Amino acid sequence: MNTPGESPSILALADLATPMSIRVAATLGLAELAGDTGGTVVELAARSGTSAPALELLLDHLVTVGVFDCDRASGRYRTTCLGDQMRADAPEGFRILLDIDSAGGRAELAFVELLGTIVAGAPAYPRRYGRSFWADLDAEPALRKSFDAQMKWRFQAMAGQIAEQFDWGRFTHIVDVGGGDGTLLMAILRAHTGVRGQVLDLAPTAALAAETFRAAGLTDRATALSGNFFDPLPTGADAYLLSDILHDWDDTHARAILAECAQAADPNSVVVVLEPIRGEGANTAINLFMLMCFAGRERTVEELTRLAADCGLTRRAVTRVADGRTAIEFQPAGHLEQTPRPVDATPESAAGGGGLVAE
Ligand SMILES: C[S@@+](CC[C@H](N)C(=O)[O-])C[C@H]1O[C@@H](n2cnc3c(N)ncnc32)[C@H](O)[C@@H]1O
Repeated sequence: MNTPGESPSILALADLATPMSIRVAATLGLAELAGDTGGTVVELAARSGTSAPALELLLDHLVTVGVFDCDRASGRYRTTCLGDQMRADAPEGFRILLDIDSAGGRAELAFVELLGTIVAGAPAYPRRYGRSFWADLDAEPALRKSFDAQMKWRFQAMAGQIAEQFDWGRFTHIVDVGGGDGTLLMAILRAHTGVRGQVLDLAPTAALAAETFRAAGLTDRATALSGNFFDPLPTGADAYLLSDILHDWDDTHARAILAECAQAADPNSVVVVLEPIRGEGANTAINLFMLMCFAGRERTVEELTRLAADCGLTRRAVTRVADGRTAIEFQPAGHLEQTPRPVDATPESAAGGGGLVAE
C-alpha cells in the first residue's frame, strides 16, 4: 500500500536483489562477523570465506537499503538496528527463516518457480529440488532439525495462548497428530494437569518430542510415538489434534489424514483441527507459500468442514484460540449425545502408527 503522494514503483516491489542480498548476508552470518566494532570488506571477506570485490557490492547494497552502515573514514561496515534482526540471537528469531541453508530459507527460494505453480497448480519445491519438501527433510537431517526449530520458534508465545484459550481440560487423552517437537502438547499439559497426551510424528521429530517431555518433567503424562499419519493412528484417545497439519497438504492428502483420525476416533472422540483460517487473518503471502511449497493452502472454516464431512466427521464448534489460529471441533457422524467418554485411553492401549519413543 502506498501512502498518498508516493509514486508506486512496481519495479521496487519486484526487485529480487534486495531480498537475496539480505538472505545471503544472513546465511554468511555477516551481522555476527561484523560484530559491534564492524569490519572492513577485506576483514569480512576473510572471516566469511568470500570474494572481497563481490562482498563489497553486497555490503554497499545492504547500506543502500538500511541493513548495514559504513563508516567511510575507516571503511568499516556494521549492522544497523534493522540489520541486527539477522543475528542468530536476535529476539525476533528471523535468522532461521532467512538462512538459505535452513529448511524455511531454502523453501522460500523455490518461489523463483512460482510461474510453474500458477500455470499447473503444482508445487514449485519438487520442481526446484527434485523431491518434495518432506522427502528433502527425510534425506537431510540438518534441514529437518532447522524445520523443527522453526516450528518451535513460531509457537513459543502462541502455544501458551492456545493452551489457555481452549477447553483441553475436558479430555483425558490427546493424540497430537504430527505434533512436532511437542511444544504445543507440553503447553496444554502444563495448563491442564488432568490431561495426558501423545505426540505422533516422523521418527527424528518424535525423538525430539520425547526429549521435550523429558526436559519438562512430563514423562508420566506425555509420550512420543514415531509414525506416519497416513497409517492407522493410535485408537482410544478422546481427542485427536491436527495443529497446522492440513494446510501443508492438498485436499486428497488432507482427506486421507482426516480419515485416519476418523478411523481411530471413538464415537465420542473429538478431532480438533487447529489452523490459520483463510480470510480471517491468514497471511496471503503465507497462503501462496503453502501452495508453492507443499501444494497446500489455508482454507476457510466451510472448506475444512466439507473436507471433514467427506471423512464422516461433523463440525461441532469453532473457537478462535490465538491471533491467527482457530480450533474447529469435529466428531464422528455416529457420535452419541451425552454418552460418557471412554475412560481407558492410556498410551499403552494405543495401536498402530509406529514405535513408542518415550514414556
Ligand atoms: C507444520 S508442522 C506442525 C507441527 C506441530 N503440529 C505444530 O503445530 O507445531 C507439520 C508436522 O507434520 C509432521 N509430518 C509431516 N509428514 C508426516 C507424516 N507423514 N506422518 C507424521 N508426521 C508428519 C512434520 O514432521 C511436522 O512436525
